[in-house]
Amino acid sequence: MTLPPTPAPELSIPELSVIVPTFNERDNVGPLYDALVAALNGIAFEVVFVDDDSSDGTRDAIAAIAARDGRARLIHRIGRRGLATAVTEGLLSASAPYLAVIDADMQHDERVLPEMLAILRGGETDLVVGSRYAAGGSIGGWDARRARVSAVATRLARLISRADISDPMSGFFAITRPAFESAVRGLSGQGYKILLDICASTPRPLRTAEVAYDFRTRVAGESKLDTLIVWEYLLLLADKLFGHVVPARFLSFLFIGGLGVFVHMGALAIMMEAGYPPFVWAQSIAAGLAMIFNFFVNNTLTYRDRRLRGFGPVAKGLLSFIAACSIGAIANVGIANYLFADYRYMWWTAGLAGILVGAVWNYAATSIVTWRAK
Ligand code: GDD
Ligand code: MN
Repeated sequence: MTLPPTPAPELSIPELSVIVPTFNERDNVGPLYDALVAALNGIAFEVVFVDDDSSDGTRDAIAAIAARDGRARLIHRIGRRGLATAVTEGLLSASAPYLAVIDADMQHDERVLPEMLAILRGGETDLVVGSRYAAGGSIGGWDARRARVSAVATRLARLISRADISDPMSGFFAITRPAFESAVRGLSGQGYKILLDICASTPRPLRTAEVAYDFRTRVAGESKLDTLIVWEYLLLLADKLFGHVVPARFLSFLFIGGLGVFVHMGALAIMMEAGYPPFVWAQSIAAGLAMIFNFFVNNTLTYRDRRLRGFGPVAKGLLSFIAACSIGAIANVGIANYLFADYRYMWWTAGLAGILVGAVWNYAATSIVTWRAK
């Protein structure tokens, strides 16, 4: 039996891979794909959608595209959330020499992609950023508050970024494969700012160019950015500044643990003022409240990407957190007591050493039993 001839491979080898992260974008992916096809006329491209288990039928819409056009494919991630890691996995799955990232919601102007590609083909540039701030660009319909937050974040970004770009927060860019690969092992993967993460992770500064575009307003669906991304952003900065010493997640855990001390002391003060219950009980209740507080805040901030949701998982997580932290408290007291009694350390060095051992234990243990990575 002879097989039917396959089409000449050069026609199907993409020169450009376009990565599109999606989270609940059902009504946007079709129009975006059509717009990409129109804009990339004459260019050999593929489109990789990376979907974080959307619940609105986004993947059905993507499957409908892929059923009629072999240049579209899907990566479906389960049990994980996060724009930066989604984009990274999409980029890693692509094998074209040039890579681009664009939002699914049509806010970025796909018509500048050919210009971005042309600049990269020139060979003098590693990264082309779609910029709202370069001459000729604009932030479109953003309200004053969001514009102000964005301006401050952009200024902070220059602290850690090695590249000189006017819009390091952009989610719209094109990059050569070697440039991306030189950064990928150093990425922190925190939060939303993949471009900034890439720029801060390359061994040598990237040669950059910018293409201005007008940020459009979202047509369908809603933005996934909420106020918590400010925290993620600070973690990304912390990770880039101190991440080689301590992981940003641990810093977040420590900081929240510090807040827990205030919760503990506040609760204890109220009970002591009230004169009830007796001190041992008051101290235990305060410790319990602080643990509950710490669990919920860590669940929302430190482990945003693995956040436990729903009654069952949250209850199980809370119990495992309390169990792990109780062992941590025993270790804390044990170590401090040992140093103080047997080695005659000052009370405060012994106390701090106990706290440190307890904190490291709590962090390590809860990252395994409470927020295990999937
Ligand atoms: N896979 C995946 N996982 N995709 C996500 C996630 C996630 O957790 N969160 C958001 N997305 C997708 C959205 O579906 C959309 O395609 C894109 O990422 C951007 O999300 P939006 O919610 O629309 O963000 P935005 O419009 O507020 O901000 C965008 O524009 C800014 C300015 O360029 C983002 O691209 C920002 O990174 C960028 O700074
Ligand atoms: Mn958007």
